[in-house]
Amino acid sequence: MSPGEKLRVAVLASGRGSNLQALLDAVVEPDYPAEISGVFSDKSDAQALERARKAGVPAVWVDPAGENYEDRLAAEIETVGCDLICCAGYMKILSPAFVARFPDKIINIHPSLLPSFPGLHGQRKALRAGVRVTGCTVHFIDEGVDTGPIILQAAVPVLPEDTEEILSARILWFEHRIYPLAVRLVAEGRVRREGTRVRLSGVEVNQEGGFISPPINFL
Ligand code: GAR
Repeated sequence: MSPGEKLRVAVLASGRGSNLQALLDAVVEPDYPAEISGVFSDKSDAQALERARKAGVPAVWVDPAGENYEDRLAAEIETVGCDLICCAGYMKILSPAFVARFPDKIINIHPSLLPSFPGLHGQRKALRAGVRVTGCTVHFIDEGVDTGPIILQAAVPVLPEDTEEILSARILWFEHRIYPLAVRLVAEGRVRREGTRVRLSGVEVNQEGGFISPPINFL
């Protein structure tokens, strides 16, 4: 991309669209290096489509019933054009053929520290497993389910009285921060996929950023 040019992002979303909203809010900042070219949903009544319309972004429902759903979806995405596809609460699994059509161009946000708790209900699985720390992950999509190279993660404590709802809300706060950050890093050319891993360049790492969970006061 030439300087000043923005990364064009297509968003796939099936529901509430709060992660989409975090991206829509980020792109209105003049120095944010990406813009949303369209929002695509398999659900005609997805709140995400409403959010897109409000923001003046093309909002497209693609009927998942019938033949060649993914070909129709890809054609709609190609009509608006994009450099990156962000899945944001998109609840269908993309086929290997679709992933191959957009190589290294599809990313996803997932509510756990992958590779732990892939698939549906990442927060519920974390509670059941009794882990002290969970979180969220932005990763490239590959042919597997939630298995692709990891771009960013945020660690979130699991507290003794947590319900699935409370824990989900705590994780979501971090989702809304790491997803726009990950898109920014991609747009700035700082994300390089190297096999099963991702190398980030020009990113400062705070060596003291770790924490113990549950938060314990040592005497
Ligand atoms: C988010 O928590 C996202 O991480 C999760 O669905 C929620 C969508 O919320 N995605 C998955 O579980 C994908 N496997 P949103 O529609 O408000 O962004």
